[in-house]
Amino acid sequence: MARTSPLTTDGLVQILFGSSAFQMLNAGRNLGLFSLLHRHPGLTPAEIGEELGLAERPVQILLLGTTALGLTERQDDGYVNAGLLNCLFEDGTWDIVEDLIEYEERIVRPAEVDFTQSLRENTNVGLRRIKGSGTDLYHRLSADPDLEQLFYRCMRSWSRLSNPVLVEKADLTGVRRVLDVGGGDGVNAIALAQANPGVEFTVLDLPGTVEIARRKIAEHGLSDRIAVRAADIFADTYPSGHDCVLFANQLVIWSPQENLRLLRKAHAALPDGGRVVVFNAMSDDSGDGPLYAALDNVYFATLPAASSAIHRWGQYEEWFAAAGFVKYERLPGGRWTPHGVISAVK
Ligand SMILES: C[S@@+](CC[C@H](N)C(=O)[O-])C[C@H]1O[C@@H](n2cnc3c(N)ncnc32)[C@H](O)[C@@H]1O
Repeated sequence: MARTSPLTTDGLVQILFGSSAFQMLNAGRNLGLFSLLHRHPGLTPAEIGEELGLAERPVQILLLGTTALGLTERQDDGYVNAGLLNCLFEDGTWDIVEDLIEYEERIVRPAEVDFTQSLRENTNVGLRRIKGSGTDLYHRLSADPDLEQLFYRCMRSWSRLSNPVLVEKADLTGVRRVLDVGGGDGVNAIALAQANPGVEFTVLDLPGTVEIARRKIAEHGLSDRIAVRAADIFADTYPSGHDCVLFANQLVIWSPQENLRLLRKAHAALPDGGRVVVFNAMSDDSGDGPLYAALDNVYFATLPAASSAIHRWGQYEEWFAAAGFVKYERLPGGRWTPHGVISAVK
């Protein structure tokens, strides 16, 4: 959705100090302020300082920031979390949000200083902040086991945050076997398998990643229904025997030409009547929102691969048409992240 009101000076302040706003959220999480106030709402600044091991000045700085941003609120002499934060704690989403904050801090921030240069050069200049020599983030992760572990823990949380949309919107009625292309640690195949008891899955990903997926799938007791296969999703032929191909958080990584190549491979692997399902964040066809997509694009423009972007809904329909698919269906998620499903039939 486009901005509905003109920019004000307060709005300009929020943009100018956007990184500082994130640091308030990050510090509140790292120092344990939000979990403390969830357990003990209404603590005074002195009590907060004692519990967190912070001196008076840093407590004042932190509470001024979190309160001005609406993350915390004053109540009499004490402080409480914003209602939204308490809801996130109570419904179990806060653990996920903690991973998202860590991802932003440790993976996105160091690379995003290269955003302007990435726009100038029309490529992911920020990749130079990641060790290794691969031309995309995923091929560099295996060179740094700690980073690989952090990436997949956080990627799992990004997917858990949004994949209720996939589970709700992807209609697997009549589907027998799904090929999850670039399926990561299997987080989506696991969620879909739990919701669709008759359906089997194959997770295709790079060799190091399928080992992580194998472990996760076993932990969920789903090894009999979810197979894993190491492959290069561009170079290798897709295994046969699947009547649905899923691209989850995958087509945001690549250029239009690369996406078309992947969709043509999916088309070739599917029987007539087979389905392709694409799930990821989408941007509006109008080109002016939503804000989540607009701001997350700093990451996509700077780090994952040379041409990553949160593409518009309509672009998927163009690629579907060019790859030979018909009967497109757009299914917006309707939640606070702009994740949606778009599917088509061979
Ligand atoms: C953004 S992650 C998405 C993972 C998963 N689909 C999800 O939604 O959580 C992209 C995945 O694509 C995989 N990938 C990237 N390039 C690949 C390639 N050439 N061959 C196989 N997998 C690849 C990465 O290893 C990574 O697991």
